[in-house]
Amino acid sequence: MSGSTTSAARRVCLLTGGGDAPGLNAVIKGFVLRALAHGIEVIGSQDGFEGLVEDGKLVLMDAATVRGILPRGGSILGCSNRANPFHYPVGPRGKEELRDVSDVVLGRLRDNEIDALVLAGGDGTLHFGQKFSERGVPCVGVPKTIDNDLAATDYTFGFDTALDTATWAIDTLHTTAASHHRVMILEVMGRYAGWIALSAGLAGGADVILLPEVPYKLERVLARIKERERLERRFTIIVVAEGARPEGGDHAVLDPGHVGKLPRLGGAGERLMQQLKEAGIQNEVRTTVLGHLQRGGSPSAFDRVLGLRMGAHAADLCARGDFGKMVCLRGTEIGEVPLAEATRAPKLVDPNGQLVQTARGIGVELGF
Ligand code: F6P
Repeated sequence: MSGSTTSAARRVCLLTGGGDAPGLNAVIKGFVLRALAHGIEVIGSQDGFEGLVEDGKLVLMDAATVRGILPRGGSILGCSNRANPFHYPVGPRGKEELRDVSDVVLGRLRDNEIDALVLAGGDGTLHFGQKFSERGVPCVGVPKTIDNDLAATDYTFGFDTALDTATWAIDTLHTTAASHHRVMILEVMGRYAGWIALSAGLAGGADVILLPEVPYKLERVLARIKERERLERRFTIIVVAEGARPEGGDHAVLDPGHVGKLPRLGGAGERLMQQLKEAGIQNEVRTTVLGHLQRGGSPSAFDRVLGLRMGAHAADLCARGDFGKMVCLRGTEIGEVPLAEATRAPKLVDPNGQLVQTARGIGVELGF
């Protein structure tokens, strides 16, 4: 086995790693159908890398296994963001030890005569793909995350659906905010990237959007709320990214995580509400945390088409033995980039970029 360009694969293992994202089933379908057309056999690993570590979790995939799955959220293969093969939890829940089980994965690939690995995942899963590539496993990555924070692709699948859900939430909050003359805070996901917050905030007509990329000044938020009161627009919609933080403050964290597992962010909206109250604003303030509603549900048409195209392209790469790559979208074209490049740095919102300029240009308060 070799991690870079080799001969065509005959038997490939497909896994969906990390948290789920809408469009995973489209990737699975696109990959399986195109692989079968190339005469490649597909084995699915259930629950991400768990399927390559634990017994009895590898399944043969054929056209029947992917029938009717396009409208379904989640992944028919299951996902796991605990299954890090380099820091794998072993032992009873709560008392686990973290072990490097990458040799178990290599052994299972060998025993099952699997000659390539296709990983649909975010930053973490693609990093594992890069590490297995370096250890000689032919790998292909497919970029999944609602956060849209992977640098080597213009869009990841899952983002568009999450964006629709966040926009729906802002639209919905508007009517109740207006009726009660309240300040409504909506906390959205995205980890350390503000793509969901900024895009949904724009699409939903938010008055204030707070991003993780630049700490916000509380006085600017207060000033906007007061200005709206003065102008008799007696409600304010604030979209706050879960990774947003005030000047001089840190990220709001629910769980600090541990080696091999990222911290769990959350509480940015609640903190902002407290700050506004302590600053003495007269308005009633309410906070909504949109949470995993952004990850679940039926994928948008855009995510289905993107997922199908990316999955099919991953199968083409396997058929031509072009490994060590991640499928990507550049403009309107599907292509591929080296896995190493794909995982080098996250894609964050550029505070001087066009999207931020548009928001500023139409009067949205960004807190900086
Ligand atoms: O990376 C996707 C994401 O949904 C982030 O936006 C969020 O911070 C995180 O995953 C939540 O992870 P979990 O499902 O483990 O709570």
